[in-house]
Amino acid sequence: MTGGASGLGAATARRLAQGGAEVTILDKNAETGEALAKELGGGAKFVETDVTDADQVTQAVALAGETAPLRIAVNCAGLGAAMRTINRDGSPHDFDVFKFVVNVNLVGTFNVIRLAASAMSKTDALENGERGAIVNTASVAAFDGQIGQIAYSASKGGIVGLTLPAARDLAPVGIRVCTIAPGLMDTPLLGLLPEDQRQALGAGVLFPKRLGNPEEYAALVASIVENPYLNGETIRLDGGLRMPPK
Ligand SMILES: NC(=O)c1ccc[n+]([C@@H]2O[C@H](COP(=O)([O-])OP(=O)(O)OC[C@H]3O[C@@H](n4cnc5c(N)ncnc54)[C@H](O)[C@@H]3O)[C@@H](O)[C@H]2O)c1
Repeated sequence: MTGGASGLGAATARRLAQGGAEVTILDKNAETGEALAKELGGGAKFVETDVTDADQVTQAVALAGETAPLRIAVNCAGLGAAMRTINRDGSPHDFDVFKFVVNVNLVGTFNVIRLAASAMSKTDALENGERGAIVNTASVAAFDGQIGQIAYSASKGGIVGLTLPAARDLAPVGIRVCTIAPGLMDTPLLGLLPEDQRQALGAGVLFPKRLGNPEEYAALVASIVENPYLNGETIRLDGGLRMPPK
C-alpha cells in the first residue's frame, strides 16, 4: 500500500487489514506510517519508502512478501502542483516542477507496478489462476484537467494510459490491473481548506452534493480486489462530477 500513511491510502490500509490482509505501508512519512501500522496490528508493517526509488521499492516489496504471498498492490502515493503552462507574466512553467510531479505520480506508480508484479508472478496461482491485483490512483484531472493542473493532469493521464497495457502484459501470469480516478475526496489535502470552501467544492458535485470519503475510495479498492472480472479499466469515483476549466 503506497501512500498508506495518509488520506485515501490510510483508509485503504485499514479496509484491507479488516479484510484479513497483512498490510505493508510504503510512504515517505514515517511518523504517521508507523503509527498506522501499529494501530492495524495483525502483521501490518511500515517501510519508509520513496516510490520513485528502485532499490527502496525492491526492498519494501520483498518485505511485503516475507510472511504472506504478495497478492494486492495499491498505488496511492501522489502529490500535486498548481502552475500554468505559462505564468501570468508570460514566463514558462518551471520545468523541474513538471518533471517532479510526473516522476512521483507516474514514474513512481510504474516503479511499484513492475516490482510488485514481478514478485506476484513468482507466487503460486489461486484456484482460478489468479495471482494478484494491482490498483492505481489517477484522478478526474486525467480527463477534466483544470487551469493550473497541467503537470498533475499529465501524470494522472499517464496512469490511465498504462492501465490497459499493464493488464495485457500481466494477463499471462494472472495479475489484474485497474485504476481509480477519484473526484474531490475529503482527505488531509482538502482538509486544509476553510469549511466554506470545502462546502462550495462539494456543492459542485452532481449527486451526492458533498466531498467523497476516503472510506468510499477504500470500498472501491476492496471491490476491485474481490471481483475477478474487473480488469484493464479506469473507474471514476466522483459522484458524477465533471470539473470546469477552473
Ligand atoms: N484527495 C483527493 O481529492 C484526490 C482526488 C483525486 C486523486 N487523488 C490522488 O489520490 C492519491 C492519494 O491522495 P490523498 O488525498 O490521500 O493525499 P495525501 O497527501 O493525504 O496522501 C498521499 C500520501 O503519499 C505520500 N507520498 C507522497 N510522495 C511520495 C513518495 N515519493 N513516495 C512515497 N510516498 C509518497 C505522502 O507522504 C502521503 O502520505 C494521490 O495520488 C492523489 O493524487 C486524490
